[in-house]
Amino acid sequence: MTPSGRYLTTTTLIVALGGFLMGFDVSVVSGIIRFIEAEFGLGPLQVGWVVSSLSLTATLGMLASGPLSDRLGRRPVLQIAGVLFAVSAIASAVAPGYVTLVIARMIGGFGVGAALIVAPMYIAEMAPPASRGRYVSFNQLNIVVGISAAFFSNYLILTLGESGAAWAEALRLGEWNWRWMLGIETLPAIAYLFALALVPESPRWLAMRGRDEEATEVLRRVAGADAGNVLREVKAGIAAEAALGQASWRVLLHPSLRLVMTIGIVVGILQQITGINAVFFYAPMIFEQSGIGTNAAFMQAALVGLVNLAFTVVAMALIDRFGRRPLLGFGLSGIAACMLLLAWAFVGADNNPRLILFAILGFVASFAVSLGPVMWVLFSELFPNRVRGVAISFVGLVNSATAFLVTLVFPLQLEVLGNSLTFLIYGLFALAGLVFVMRILPETKGRSLEELEAALVRT
Ligand code: BGC
Repeated sequence: MTPSGRYLTTTTLIVALGGFLMGFDVSVVSGIIRFIEAEFGLGPLQVGWVVSSLSLTATLGMLASGPLSDRLGRRPVLQIAGVLFAVSAIASAVAPGYVTLVIARMIGGFGVGAALIVAPMYIAEMAPPASRGRYVSFNQLNIVVGISAAFFSNYLILTLGESGAAWAEALRLGEWNWRWMLGIETLPAIAYLFALALVPESPRWLAMRGRDEEATEVLRRVAGADAGNVLREVKAGIAAEAALGQASWRVLLHPSLRLVMTIGIVVGILQQITGINAVFFYAPMIFEQSGIGTNAAFMQAALVGLVNLAFTVVAMALIDRFGRRPLLGFGLSGIAACMLLLAWAFVGADNNPRLILFAILGFVASFAVSLGPVMWVLFSELFPNRVRGVAISFVGLVNSATAFLVTLVFPLQLEVLGNSLTFLIYGLFALAGLVFVMRILPETKGRSLEELEAALVRT
């Protein structure tokens, strides 16, 4: 690897830790529910608050962090997220009661929202065009690893807590199990915070602020001898964006941004409306309904995490070689096929558990190789420098709101419409998305952010 490749890889590894923390924070809560229910004597609505309060503040964090990153810079916002993750983890671990626990979780939610959108944006602004897709997808890989790491760490703490080992007793792993599950995140959060001190500010943000010397300095480290040319291109792009005026929410309605906003919104909705989080978070329940036992259902849910991970790696290997369009086309076709198969597998009284498992794993693989990483890559590269922060906040919000709605109505859908019809609907959404994406999405691989702007944004 060249020195600039090494530098960029290290920087990406550090920044993408935000994705890990985000994935961990979102899924760690699944393991604590039954313990806090008992300890604090919680009713269903209170449990609901512990679980969902984080998404509420994540939404706010997402809204605030894009514009804030335009104003303060990308790195300070990531550092604030790091502090929030650490404070939230510590406060959750020592929370004396239910209300303080909810507040502690809410603090972490702001960090989740910020990390989710600022990390991919920062990485795209650092990476060279030829490998930008792979570098940005690294963040998705970390989200997926974070989700699985939380399940694993919960399991480990539970098992060690019951092991009777003297050191585990001394640490009160058994008695304080849920506090440890939440508190352990302090370690990666603090590591993130310290490591962020080693990464530079985004060169595109620096150039936007007229800090050309610092921008050149950073570009020299990631683009080598080409730094001067890149800076000239970035500056020309920023000058051309002057017509957009001040970056504010209203600027997103500017006619020149219509195409990129439409793509962002449609892909943001599509990523969720094809059912990933319904399948992801209700997997054990779906498997149980297929008639296998509870333990086997949990094993299969672990398998879902593994397949997600493996195929995200496949996407990283392919995204800059084949491009975003082929991955999306292939993945959406796979999603549609697997959802239709799933719908069919649930028809009739005698379910076929093997077929159901096959269809679900096929679905997750298709998502992981396409919509999962590709959406974040598109979000980070579609918008002009000047409005990138605001625009990514907005499409990120659309994505999260859709995720919220889909997971909210899923249990009700299963009850009212039944499994077959529910999955059939997801399949039809995927087909509609396939047609739409193939019609309007231009290929973005290998072109600089400024070239893309010249091609996609008409001022
Ligand atoms: C999505 C999440 C999803 C995750 C699963 C992300 O890109 O935005 O909603 O849970 O992928 O891998």
